[in-house]
Amino acid sequence: MNQSSLIKPTLGVSYPMISYGKGVFLYDQSGKDYLDAASGAVTANIGHGVQEIKEAMIEQTSQISFVYRSQFTSEAAEKLADKIKTFTKGIVSYSFFVNSGSEATETALKLAIQYWQEKNRPEKQKIISRWMSYHGITLGALSMSGHPIRRKRFTSILESYPSISAPYYYRCPYDLDEYAYGQLCANELETIIRRLGANHIAAFIAEPIIGAAGAAIVPPNGYLQRIKQICEEHEILFIADEVMTGFGRTGKMLACEHWGIVPDIVTFGKGMSGGYTPIAAASMSDAVLDPILNGSKMIIGGHTLSANPLSCAISLAVLTYVDKHNLGERATESGEYLMNKLAKKKEIYSFIGDVRGKGLLIGIELVENQETKEPFANCGEVTNLVVSLGMEHGIILYPAAAGLDGVTGSAIIIAPPLTISFAECDELLRRLDLTLQAFQEKCKSY
Ligand SMILES: Cc1ncc(COP(=O)(O)O)c(C=O)c1O
Repeated sequence: MNQSSLIKPTLGVSYPMISYGKGVFLYDQSGKDYLDAASGAVTANIGHGVQEIKEAMIEQTSQISFVYRSQFTSEAAEKLADKIKTFTKGIVSYSFFVNSGSEATETALKLAIQYWQEKNRPEKQKIISRWMSYHGITLGALSMSGHPIRRKRFTSILESYPSISAPYYYRCPYDLDEYAYGQLCANELETIIRRLGANHIAAFIAEPIIGAAGAAIVPPNGYLQRIKQICEEHEILFIADEVMTGFGRTGKMLACEHWGIVPDIVTFGKGMSGGYTPIAAASMSDAVLDPILNGSKMIIGGHTLSANPLSCAISLAVLTYVDKHNLGERATESGEYLMNKLAKKKEIYSFIGDVRGKGLLIGIELVENQETKEPFANCGEVTNLVVSLGMEHGIILYPAAAGLDGVTGSAIIIAPPLTISFAECDELLRRLDLTLQAFQEKCKSY
């Protein structure tokens, strides 16, 4: 093949050329099949090649694909915003559409600042976030992200937002039960608020279940409730970043629902379109939009392609599919099935430190020593090795950071499409075993 002009994530590496996808499987041009145990990047929630989505695309393009949002609205965009409202049981009433998860969290940040400006509190500008978090790659989103590897090159131009610890019980440094540790971590928020002064803080942002930066870290019960309480007491908005967890991935439409938490702003992406088109959203409650509605009436943000009818129609078809096929419930059932079997792998493979997650968002942390939880010294290499061995054995795994502060650690995420059957779960486990056995062999040479 001629020299490629396409810049790919790793230069100088050859990637398989994809041919087509069907359900949980992808097929490359050589005919090799891959079980998509990662839904790409935890995105292809309804699986690949779904006919209804193709039909929705054709129908929408035959009417209108693009109009500019300051000139027209469209039925597709209106219906999508309504669908999000009903899907979230009215937790969010309004949605602002963008094209990626990074843009969604960036918009949420600006929205929070604007909210306080409209309420005559312009000094409330800072955002608090956590180490071991990922909110996106644009500068505002990256500033909020506690993901050392992704921040490293740009540290000097980032805001210093991440300031509190993640509730990462597997590596709890104290002799505390899970609940007490969760409370301790949540109370760090109160400490930082006291130090900075609530009058300077606009919002706190968190992923309810930590994705790429922690490999499915589920907070202890009581943690998010305490966080929300602190936010309310100090007049700070709570932004739930549900880009990875939203729309059924963890078994509920919002991961926040597992703990009965009502966020002020929610960001969506990934599963919102299942990867069929780039679309994401910053959605908000009535209480957040009201001061803007009664004030400037304009959100400063958005992009040329925001709310384009084609992407909205596709996203609407995807969410309708999620609803029609009860994919949230299915994620709970197949998630439990997989989790039970994966937890047993700790007994087989001494390098599996922890298996955690909710629904079909499952993290496996890899360690040098199961007893001491010592991470692999060459941790980045280890994660990449497992992922590439997975590719060889026909299973796609998602690399994640974890370990000590998300700097020294190796982990993978298992997050297949929510449509996966039990038989396909067994096939996933079979291919994963082959991958882990191959890794075990390689470990001997480390
Ligand atoms: C929780 C979370 N927020 C935001 C983002 C950024 O989304 P995108 O890659 O679509 O910009 C991601 C991506 O992995 C994510 O997991």
